[in-house]
Parts: sequence; structure tokens; C-alpha cells
Amino acid sequence: MKATPHNVATGFGTLGRGICIITGASKGFGWALAHEVYHLLEPGSVLLLVARSGTLLQELKEELQSFTDKQRLVVHCIAANLSTTEGVNETVRSSFTYPLCLSLSLLPGSLGPISGFQSFTDLERVNSYLSLNISSPLTLTAGILQTFPRRPGLRWSVVNVSSIYALQALPSWALYCTAKAARKMMFSVLAEEEPNVKVLSYSPGPLDTDMQEEIRRLTGISHCLFPCKESAAKLMKLLLDNDFSSGAHLDFFEV
Ligand SMILES: NC(=O)c1ccc[n+]([C@@H]2O[C@H](COP(=O)([O-])OP(=O)(O)OC[C@H]3O[C@@H](n4cnc5c(N)ncnc54)[C@H](OP(=O)(O)O)[C@@H]3O)[C@@H](O)[C@H]2O)c1
Repeated sequence: MKATPHNVATGFGTLGRGICIITGASKGFGWALAHEVYHLLEPGSVLLLVARSGTLLQELKEELQSFTDKQRLVVHCIAANLSTTEGVNETVRSSFTYPLCLSLSLLPGSLGPISGFQSFTDLERVNSYLSLNISSPLTLTAGILQTFPRRPGLRWSVVNVSSIYALQALPSWALYCTAKAARKMMFSVLAEEEPNVKVLSYSPGPLDTDMQEEIRRLTGISHCLFPCKESAAKLMKLLLDNDFSSGAHLDFFEV
């Protein structure tokens, strides 16, 4: 794994002036990240919020803009389904409107079915999950990188929201573990290939979100959960300190 010399932070304690794309921003960890990032981007920056629920994104936008002068940042909501080609293309197209210098994209994923290995006989169901959680972040990231060709001063950071289950096998979680492991490798390849792109896979720890609610409902197991804000703040500190190797996989409990 190699380290890249550039720093995400361009101003003192800020992420600099640029464009930040957060997928899965309507709730959970993505929502908390939007709050953290909003306060760390410098004036004139653009925050693109992506999820299917346009109403929740709009509410988030209004909440963010109520904290400061509305003109400080451009916040743009993209109500798009990232499991479709149109959703991915629309997100890439929207990022093209804002040719700024620093770009940061954060890529959450989804839970999917929890059930025994032998239950996965339906190819379409399996493909649909893997498409949203592997193919979509690949094509979205590739499309965005293509939109902003290399030029001096342009720095890219990509955060893959990962999980401990990218590294550990968990019975009945074949799809989730597979997708997280594949994403970890996919972004490690990006880190090896593109020295101008700083890549981080961040495992956010067990978080108090709808996803955990769903896990409780499906398995009856409840975990000790942490507030999304705490994990999002740790991730921001990692990005600001910028002393990880590109392609690293870091866990909430280790940092
Ligand atoms: N929660 C945990 O304990 C935990 C632990 C480790 C890792 N993680 C990881 O953290 C990430 C976020 O988890 P979370 O708990 O915050 O999940 P969450 O509360 O369920 O939020 C998922 C987000 O993804 C969006 N989304 C889902 N399907 C989408 C689609 N087809 N197109 C566009 N957006 C879509 C949802 O918005 P819409 O429904 O509006 O589309 C929502 O904003 C995931 O990658 C998860 O694997 C979570």
C-alpha cells in the first residue's frame, strides 16, 4: 500500500474549498456525515446530497442552511436511485456542473437480505444487491473521476464506507460480507492505480441507525450502538490529519 503526499485539508482545520458528494445522505451515517462536512468545507464549496428520498434530502438541506448564511455553501439534492444507470448518470452529471478543485466523495451502502447461504438461489435478487453495493459505487466513482480529468491542484479523496465484515466472515451475511470485501479490494486497486486520489475505506462501527433496527428485527440481536455523529467526527479527523496510506482500511475502534 502506498502513501500519497497530498493533504485533503487546505485550510487550517478545514477540508478546503471544493465539491463533496455524499451518497446515502438522507439518513443514518450519511446524514451525520453531511452535518460534519458542511461545517468543514470552506465558503464557495458545493455539497451534493444523494439518496432516493428527495423529501428527506430537502429537509436536510434546509436544516444545514439554517446553521449559517445560506450563500456560504451550495447544497444540491439529487433524488436518485443508485441501483439504476439513470441514478448513477444523473449523479455524475450533477457533479460536472461544479468544476472545483477539491473533491471528496463518500459512499455508503445497504444491508440486504440476511439468510443462510443455501437460500441465495435467485440470481436476479443476488445481482440486484451486488449491483447497488459494488457495481454502482464503481461506476459512480469512475464516472466522477472521468468528469474531473487530472490537472494541477485537483485533489480527490474517496471514502468507502466499509465494515468489519469486509474482513470477517459472518454466517448468514454472505451478500453483505461479499460486497464489503469486494468494495475494499476495488478501492485498494483505485489507490494503487491513481496516486492523485486519496482513498480510505472506513469501518464506522456499530451505529444507531435504521440499518441496525432492521438487523434487530431480522435476527433478534441487538448490539451496543454508537451515535453516528461520534463515528462521523472520527472520520473527519482522519481526513483532516491525512496521515493514513491511500487504500487503508481503518476501523472506528482503532482510530
Ligand atoms: N449501521 C451500522 O451499524 C453500520 C456498521 C458498519 C457499517 N455500516 C455501513 O454504513 C453505511 C450506512 O449505513 P446506515 O446504517 O447509515 O444505513 P441506513 O440508515 O439504512 O442509510 C442508508 C442510506 O442509503 C440510501 N440508499 C439506500 N438505497 C439506496 C439506493 N438504491 N439509491 C440511493 N440511495 C440509497 C438511503 O436513502 P434512501 O432510502 O432515501 O434512498 C440512506 O440514506 C452502509 O454502507 C453500512 O454498510 C453501518
